[in-house]
Amino acid sequence: MAGRGLLGAAAALLLALALALARGDIPRPEEAARMARFVLHNCDWGALATVSRQEGLRGQPFANVFSISDGPPGPPGGSGVPYLYLTEMEISVQDLEINSNASLTVSLAQTPYCKKHRYDPQNPLCAHIIFCGSIVKVNDSEADIAKKALFSRHPEMESWPKDHNWFFAKFNITNIWVLDYFGGLKIVTPEEYYSVKP
Ligand SMILES: *[C@@H]1O[C@H](CO)[C@@H](O)[C@H](O)[C@H]1NC(C)=O
Ligand SMILES: *[C@@H]1O[C@H](CO)[C@@H](O)[C@H](O)[C@H]1NC(C)=O
Ligand SMILES: *[C@@H]1O[C@H](CO)[C@@H](O)[C@H](O)[C@H]1NC(C)=O
Repeated sequence: MAGRGLLGAAAALLLALALALARGDIPRPEEAARMARFVLHNCDWGALATVSRQEGLRGQPFANVFSISDGPPGPPGGSGVPYLYLTEMEISVQDLEINSNASLTVSLAQTPYCKKHRYDPQNPLCAHIIFCGSIVKVNDSEADIAKKALFSRHPEMESWPKDHNWFFAKFNITNIWVLDYFGGLKIVTPEEYYSVKP
């Protein structure tokens, strides 16, 4: 019963989110920091580029898909911190052991918003955000926060093989570029990003 109640609440939140997105209820283009927070919070996954350490590819860019979360889905919004659930068995995570620098891209193309407005994913109006920085393992107290953020959006994670030594990590943001309108990229500092009310 409790599970069903939670599922119902989650469904209601998703529906509210879908309706908000369908209404075009997104931050205005002049609110670049809010837009970055909005897009990240509404994305369940992102493309993570690492510097490859693979034989024959060493030093080349390597982009891969990762599930992310900055907090449970729906309003009022998340922490802005992209959390990840990783294992050293993963090919990109092996890159990170040599060089933890990475870039993470998220796009409203993965939400109903762009399809509803018929915005191509490459159209800036289909807002996308590019983060640069590094991946860092989180400490035990932050791991609790990361776990709540990730497992609420990605329930399957709980059943991932225990012997893979999963750990919680976050994207340590150093640079942010917002593509949400015509006229070029907008730069947002991590300070602006974390201080804005989502
Ligand atoms: C990671 O990026 C920083 C700049 O943010 C740079 O100073 C550093 O050398 C890079 N690390 C590696 C291993 O390339
Ligand atoms: C864990 O990390 C968080 C975020 O970086 C920090 O605020 C906190 O002080 C750390 N806790 C411990 C016990 O080191
Ligand atoms: C995050 O990145 C900055 C800039 O490279 C670095 O100074 C800082 O130590 C990093 N934070 C963690 C927790 O690794």
